[in-house]
Amino acid sequence: MRWTPSSWRDFPIKQQPTYEDEKVLKDVEAELSSYPPLIFAGEARTLKEQLAAVGRGEAFLLQGGDCAESFSDFNTPNIKNFFKLILQMNMVMMYSTGKPVVKVGRIAGQFAKPRSSDFEEINGISLPSYRGDIINGVEFTEEARIPNPHNMIRAYNQASATQNLLRAFSRGGMADLNKVHKWNLDFIKDNELGQRYKELSDKIDKAVKFMAACGLSSDKVPQLHQTTIFTSHEALLLNYEEALTKKDSEGDQQYYDCSAHMLWIGDRTRDLTDAHIEYFRGIANPIGCKVGPTMGEDELIELIDALNPENEEGRLNLIVRMGASKIQEFFPKLLKRVKDEGRNVVWSCDPMHGNIEKSSTGYKTRDFENILSEVEQFFNIHKEMGTVAGGIHLEMTGNNVTECTGSTSCSITDEDLASRYHTQCDPRLNANQALELSFMVGNMINK
Ligand code: PEP
Ligand code: CO
Repeated sequence: MRWTPSSWRDFPIKQQPTYEDEKVLKDVEAELSSYPPLIFAGEARTLKEQLAAVGRGEAFLLQGGDCAESFSDFNTPNIKNFFKLILQMNMVMMYSTGKPVVKVGRIAGQFAKPRSSDFEEINGISLPSYRGDIINGVEFTEEARIPNPHNMIRAYNQASATQNLLRAFSRGGMADLNKVHKWNLDFIKDNELGQRYKELSDKIDKAVKFMAACGLSSDKVPQLHQTTIFTSHEALLLNYEEALTKKDSEGDQQYYDCSAHMLWIGDRTRDLTDAHIEYFRGIANPIGCKVGPTMGEDELIELIDALNPENEEGRLNLIVRMGASKIQEFFPKLLKRVKDEGRNVVWSCDPMHGNIEKSSTGYKTRDFENILSEVEQFFNIHKEMGTVAGGIHLEMTGNNVTECTGSTSCSITDEDLASRYHTQCDPRLNANQALELSFMVGNMINK
């Protein structure tokens, strides 16, 4: 069947807002589609090539960022801390494995959230659920929860400024390997983990000085003073994605979703006959799809063939999110089937979304032990199957929040959660926890 950027509109769709005024919605869509792209098709193709290398085991994928970006937390320190954290994690994993790390942020567009219920009830009052700042407001009032099409314009502008700052940090000197010490975040510096990172950065420092003495200084070798952080988000709100879908008329004549380099489909919207699959099959970006415990083996093969009919390497990232107590039961058979059928996919592990629990103090949280356990099982299952554990997908922040419990570096308890619980949606790893996990993942890759 013929695909167009709007052909998804003829299919059933889940997890969407109902806008009150069609005319306002149409005007916003028209305005958005006149705006410049946030990424170029060539960059998306570069990411696809790098993901192909991940699929062959020659590189590792690190994808991470907020569960949901918000309008209120949009500021330079947040973006800078995220940037520093992802560079630190990059160094830790690259140094211990000797492989390049492909860095993809859940950033510059991660604004729409699928929800388990259409309504939220507090003290007997029921209101439509919060669906992310691109749709409605998080405040628990009737007015805030009305979907507002203009939020799409604000999301675009925020994504654009975020992308701009990331590009500036990446190219403007902040990623220079001579600055590897400076990426250490203030609240990490003094603990054991900070010391561990310092030891590693001392070694990198020496290597960089040695190379400079050989004539390969960072002002001569761009790879030593620049980096690339690709952007990604769940393409849930297809009105927004369609408006930013553009044909690469000077390139391969294909359509790209120019709202981010990579887009993924959530676990709740991946039905084969639904609108999201229709939209995704027509865009040429590298794409992801979440794979939860309800995924069937035949269903997965059909999904792969719908999304990647040419079996192209680097095109499709399957993001496994089963939960620490379920991955052993549900993942190996899927992996075996995909391996036996010779489909090229990049496997990564999201150890966040299957491990949500409620703390004894009433907070939505995740325990570091479960997160670590799911990642370890993911690596072991691949090892046994002789397949490639390509990457990890995390909800994390460069700030010192208290949203997930546990870890050696900060041992957060249920009681601690209240002190700095800032997320708009799901609990994120703080910078200590994310860095600690990277050291462990580095070891797992080596094994
Ligand atoms: C997410 O990644 O924020 C998310 C909602 O995940 P999932 O679709 O896997 O539940
Ligand atoms: Co989430």
